[in-house]
Amino acid sequence: MTGKTAIIIGASRGIGLALAGELAGRGWQVTATARGDAPELASLAAASNGGITLATVDIDDVASCVALDTALTGKAFDLVFVNAGTYGPAHQSVDTVTAAEMGALMMTNAIAPIRLAKRLLPRVKPGGTIALMSSILGSVALNDMGTTALYRASKAGLNIIARGFFVEQIKPLGLTLLNLHPGWVKTDMGGPQAPVEIADSVRGLADVLEALRDGGHHYRDYQGNALPW
Ligand SMILES: NC(=O)c1ccc[n+]([C@@H]2O[C@H](COP(=O)([O-])OP(=O)(O)OC[C@H]3O[C@@H](n4cnc5c(N)ncnc54)[C@H](OP(=O)(O)O)[C@@H]3O)[C@@H](O)[C@H]2O)c1
Repeated sequence: MTGKTAIIIGASRGIGLALAGELAGRGWQVTATARGDAPELASLAAASNGGITLATVDIDDVASCVALDTALTGKAFDLVFVNAGTYGPAHQSVDTVTAAEMGALMMTNAIAPIRLAKRLLPRVKPGGTIALMSSILGSVALNDMGTTALYRASKAGLNIIARGFFVEQIKPLGLTLLNLHPGWVKTDMGGPQAPVEIADSVRGLADVLEALRDGGHHYRDYQGNALPW
């Protein structure tokens, strides 16, 4: 697919960085964001023959989101992909988590992605897609253990807020909303024991993004499998 345009939010490292490279390799024109120094992304962009351009945003910071939108004046996208996310406190304990820890986790993983997607919605082209990086750990139906409770809550929160956003604002425009699970991937977050290589994850995600454009709201993994909410 060539001539398509995408913005990937949270592309400094890990899955977001590799997805920027994957889409650019497929001929997409990619705008890739970081919130601070991002040497790997800068190198990727420098080697991309103009296929990747850089922008800045911290999704938790409203002023930063406003500045990004201003910097994008005149631009429109076939794909807005909010990939940025965090694991939250390592202890993942309902018993000990503080309000500040939980607030920060919910802001980054559940609230800020939707808030930024809403801000960028007018920039999505007809027939386009908004993608949000969820996780299989956000599935209530598939949860059979108490571990990673806080992270699970944040991604379940993302999923349910996304549904309301879809019904009220995305579906009437005929756009597609995807809540995606990248697999358990070898990144800083996924750790070295993760079974899925970054390259395999982003190849699968890009296949799903290019194929699933039916105006629906879907929860899919990187292999295209539908996940139960
Ligand atoms: N790895 C897995 O196995 C796995 C599984 C399921 C879902 N996911 C999800 O996939 C996404 C990417 O994960 P990853 O494994 O690539 O994680 P990662 O290596 O830890 O990268 C996280 C990315 O999110 C960015 N980010 C975090 N908070 C941000 C903020 N407030 N504003 C802007 N950018 C922010 C980071 O930027 P900085 O470099 O500035 O920190 C970085 O680019 C996340 O949403 C994660 O929850 C990952």
